[in-house]
Amino acid sequence: MQKLLILLALVFASTLLQSQNNSIIPQPVSFTYTRSLPFKLNAGSTIGGNTAEAQKVARQLADQITRATGYRFTVRKQGSIQLTLNKTANAEIGDEGYTLNVTTSAVKINANKPAGLFYGVQSLLQLLPPEIESPTVATAKWTIPACSVVDYPRFGWRGLMLDVSRHFFPKEDVKRYIDRMSRYKYNVFHWHLTDDEGWRIEIKSLPKLTQIGSCRVQRYGKWGVHDAPKKTEAPTDCGFYTQEDIKEIVAYAAERHIQILPEIDVPGHNSAAVASYPELCCTQDSTVMVSPGHKFAEWYGNGQFKMMVDNTLDPSSEKVYTFLDKVFTEVAALFPFQYIHAGGDECYHGYWENDPDCQALMQKEGLKTTHELQSYFTKRVEKIVKSKGKKLIGWDEILEGGLAPEAAVMSWRGLEGGIEAAKLGHFVVMSPNDYVYTDLLQGDPLVEPDQTSYKSVRLQKTYSFEPVPAEINPTYILGGQANLWTEKVPTIRQAEYMTWPRAWATADIYWSPRDSKNWDAFTQRMEKHMERYDIGGFNYARSSFDPIVTGSMVNGKLMANVTTEVNGLEIYYTLDESIPDKYSRKYTGPIEIPDGKQVTLKVSTYRNGKPSGRMVPISREEIIKRVVPAKAP
Ligand code: ACM
Repeated sequence: MQKLLILLALVFASTLLQSQNNSIIPQPVSFTYTRSLPFKLNAGSTIGGNTAEAQKVARQLADQITRATGYRFTVRKQGSIQLTLNKTANAEIGDEGYTLNVTTSAVKINANKPAGLFYGVQSLLQLLPPEIESPTVATAKWTIPACSVVDYPRFGWRGLMLDVSRHFFPKEDVKRYIDRMSRYKYNVFHWHLTDDEGWRIEIKSLPKLTQIGSCRVQRYGKWGVHDAPKKTEAPTDCGFYTQEDIKEIVAYAAERHIQILPEIDVPGHNSAAVASYPELCCTQDSTVMVSPGHKFAEWYGNGQFKMMVDNTLDPSSEKVYTFLDKVFTEVAALFPFQYIHAGGDECYHGYWENDPDCQALMQKEGLKTTHELQSYFTKRVEKIVKSKGKKLIGWDEILEGGLAPEAAVMSWRGLEGGIEAAKLGHFVVMSPNDYVYTDLLQGDPLVEPDQTSYKSVRLQKTYSFEPVPAEINPTYILGGQANLWTEKVPTIRQAEYMTWPRAWATADIYWSPRDSKNWDAFTQRMEKHMERYDIGGFNYARSSFDPIVTGSMVNGKLMANVTTEVNGLEIYYTLDESIPDKYSRKYTGPIEIPDGKQVTLKVSTYRNGKPSGRMVPISREEIIKRVVPAKAP
């Protein structure tokens, strides 16, 4: 009987252990709580590293935990927290993987390479209480649960993109962004450095690029509707990175095992370069100015557009290739990453179509369309990039008219470009806007800061993304990214709001095993990280807790349907202009919306009696606009 009781107790304990989820993002390959008391971190704990490289990572860990705990740690060869670079490689975990074992008396992280130790440290930090994120000394029970972890990434390219042209982000902001990335095991920072609204990288041999191209006239208010710049106005809104700044940021990223992918976007998106050197475009238009976010293009849908100013490099001009040779010489020397991104997106061909030199070049080269002319341009750019010892990657438009021989493709208009490139035997990075564009709306436009976005990508949609389509050889998919365009993102806090939690979802997608997806478990982990961000002072969006309101017509009556992305929330509403709270009417099914011009439905979400999402106030008129047409029987 006694034996049976012990057995039952053991079964119960192990079930309890298994049912406790860890909150690590990205989700590790394998995680098991083990049956012993937690490791207690205290002033007597010691941190060890078996080699100089391991000690470097150990010091990073020491710095982080000293800041929050106040305990001072000196790094030595052996410690109660021990970081070990394996003498014999563990084939299962590869170059970026690690094993982590926590017992009552010791924490052991093993890896084949320093990157693996660094990622093991990130997981360890996430096992400590959230107060470990505190920028100043905090009080907490500094324990680490006993556990055993084996972990390694699904993809070798796990990226986030930041556009620093539309809004300039100072060096410290860029570092802050990179630091956040590193906590979630991202390893590529895609730095969109040039565009119509600002050239942000110093090119010493082409000083006007920053003297002129990094400055625009000051405008306030909504992006896209600003007045056009006038020649008589002083361009006072300036910002660029000196080469010293860039070296500092590259080193900062490298310490966090992040490579930087610099993007010089050509041949379109080039008002800033053309404003600096008008001879670079077909029209040689010296009136082109760096855009302050005014409207200079007509967008017709389906990817069709017209540029009202000539913001396009002239593919028939040798001056352009000389210019690009200078740019890429300096870019290649600054960035150790093997790839350079040469853009290629949204290039307007209208000025090429009307230019005699472009027409003559097309005839000479036997190019039948302007897509082939852009392909001619990209192939020449690839030669330049290769001559600097680098590989070219470009947006999926570079497929049109024929892909450059060795180019990799970043698929953004969907997955199709990536599929086509992979079938042609080219490497691909997936970043389809429908899933992973973090500039797009993540909640109801009625309550989001940007109400005019052309699309919405809610968190659950991002989380559903699968980067490897069934029909292609997966070895061509290097990995994926989430991309943040910053037309409507003026500050780093807004950048964080747009990035997180969607980049927690993509962290899982690009690191964790494909079959480990579980939406409810993800949202539970997400909430733990929100708590960490609150303590650390970082911003994020809670849009996934907001009510989602759609409309329907039932028997001629207008009904509002309310759902939420995060499960387990209660929904309360009013129709009488008062603010809903947990004593208001509880949502149990579609709400009939009475007739009346001024009728507004106000909806809020709660959990365990506490407000959870934001209140969405939605007029009858707006609900009518959202009526989902009934499917034909
Ligand atoms: C892009 O979003 N234009 C690449």
